[in-house]
Amino acid sequence: MEKIVILSGAGLSAESGLGTFRDEGGLWTQYDLADVATPEGFARDPGKVLDFYNERRANAAGARPNAAHHALVRLQHERDVLLVTQNVDSLLEAAGARDVLHMHGRLDRATCAACGASWPAPPVMSVSDRCPDCGARATRPDVVWFGEMPVGLDRIDAALSQATLFVAVGTSGTVYPAAGFVDLARANGTPSVELNLEASSGVFDDGRYGPASEIVPAWVGKILSDNR
Ligand code: OAD
Repeated sequence: MEKIVILSGAGLSAESGLGTFRDEGGLWTQYDLADVATPEGFARDPGKVLDFYNERRANAAGARPNAAHHALVRLQHERDVLLVTQNVDSLLEAAGARDVLHMHGRLDRATCAACGASWPAPPVMSVSDRCPDCGARATRPDVVWFGEMPVGLDRIDAALSQATLFVAVGTSGTVYPAAGFVDLARANGTPSVELNLEASSGVFDDGRYGPASEIVPAWVGKILSDNR
């Protein structure tokens, strides 16, 4: 029985109007990630970090899934697919995905650095917010920062060890551990496909290149018609 693991990145949501990180004009060309995406940056200036994610949350709230999100969800409904995403937006869920592993967390959740509670994030988070569970003024976006452990690695490892196909969509493959999933898949003898605007530095068995809204639906259509 086929088991497909799909890893997505910012390129999946680019045509929904959410910026990528490393392309021209990307977020990490405008902001220093050490300031806004590390625990040390948050300790130095929590207001700056909350503002950065408040803006991301507002952008994401106004975005709609594109044809690539819808195609991946269609595949998940028809096949055994684990959707793993590095994206903190909820566009796969908005397209109807029933299970998405957000390995870098979610913008629409908040967490307490003191007690670990997690709850739906308000549209605007502020340094004066208190944790609804323990009352500490230690609330932060429930996202994974550089130097922190991604979410769900055991589940991803288990899925990769059983996968019959690994697919990376819209990711530059520069951030580990996600960037190493293709190597794990290939070491297991699992075929791998890259769907991206252009070839990344990862080594894949196959690649389709172009805008995600075009190449992902085409690829999904082929998978569904090849293996009826
Ligand atoms: P990047 O910005 O590093 O890479 C985006 C990729 O998407 C590039 O390879 C682009 O070529 C591709 N791309 C751009 N537009 C596209 C389109 N319309 N269709 C298809 N592909 C397109 O983003 P990620 O790889 O997601 O982590 O970055 C990984 C992690 O780095 C993020 O989760 C985030 C960031 O720092 C944290 O913040 C912890």
